[in-house]
Amino acid sequence: MKALVLAGGAGTRLRPITHTSAKQLVPVANKPILFYGLEQIRDAGITEVVLVVGDTFPEIEAAVGDGTALGIDVTYVHQAQPLGLAHAVLTAADALGGDDFVMFLGDNLIEGGITELVECFRRDRPAAQLLLKRVEDPSRFGVAVLGSDGSVERLEEKPTDPPSDLALVGVYLFTPAILDAARRIEPSWRGELEITDAIQQLLDHGATVTASIVEGWWLDTGKKDELLEANRTVLASLGRRIDGEVDGDSQVVGNVVVEAGARLIRSIVRGPAVIGAGTVLEEVFVGPFTSIADDCRLTRCELEYSVVLDRCVICDVPRLEGSLLGRDVHVTRTERRPAAHRLLLGDHAQVEIAEGG
Ligand code: G1P
Repeated sequence: MKALVLAGGAGTRLRPITHTSAKQLVPVANKPILFYGLEQIRDAGITEVVLVVGDTFPEIEAAVGDGTALGIDVTYVHQAQPLGLAHAVLTAADALGGDDFVMFLGDNLIEGGITELVECFRRDRPAAQLLLKRVEDPSRFGVAVLGSDGSVERLEEKPTDPPSDLALVGVYLFTPAILDAARRIEPSWRGELEITDAIQQLLDHGATVTASIVEGWWLDTGKKDELLEANRTVLASLGRRIDGEVDGDSQVVGNVVVEAGARLIRSIVRGPAVIGAGTVLEEVFVGPFTSIADDCRLTRCELEYSVVLDRCVICDVPRLEGSLLGRDVHVTRTERRPAAHRLLLGDHAQVEIAEGG
């Protein structure tokens, strides 16, 4: 059995971060989202991974390489245009080589891994095995209708009037029958070959499609607020490990990771939080659910419920919350006159200035 991991797509909803970075590489608790999926695939005993990439191929290749560091063997397939999940499957057909496969969307995170799912699929070998989750806003997803015996009756992609609250989670298991089904469908209203339609084709041809409902969390990290929420959820399961330097005037409370080479000087970190290697905090308060990546420099500021990527500088800023800062971002206070905010922001950046700020 192989894994097909989809890491193409433009990530428009996470702009401006995704102007310079693939959405699957945005870190959650200081680890790229994509790596969680790859590790779960490896933990399920699957080592042959076909990674479908688009325009951000160089960056994804730089992070994942041939997969050796993650204990997997990666083959790259280039999808020239993001024409849908079923199109990605067809693009990868040769690399899949007629094997069964688990398809994993590279920006999805699920709790507890996929080992049981894979075992169940290997035992029963339906044409497709789906994962569903009850959600409040099913019209944003593919939606499944189950029969009274729990079998899958039909599927609909992003229905305006959802027939159920069961969303399709971005992890699917398939036999090669999905390839013929994908060849039979037409592009949807959004111009994509939908995997949901290909699975509906399987149903229409009488193939067995099974589904299980996930009780744990499932996070689709497409937008800033979802990413902060994913960061909160993953940090909540973090342990405590202090490998960096914490001076006698600093306090580290609760589940906090301070990586080797990080330094806390007269600072307080209240977990869960993670402070990356080489990052220096001086007279700083870091509140719960915050991830600060490597080589950042924070001085006299307060930060909570936020994700900060590598090499940021934050200085003399009273309080940041619910913030996502990309790499090499500087947020500082100035004595320059006239007293004013001076901004240099990339396309699609968003700034909220507090009252009196
Ligand atoms: C895709 C699928 C959808 C599924 C979702 C899960 O949506 O088309 O059926 O529920 O992934 O993340 P997209 O992210 O392409 O809008």
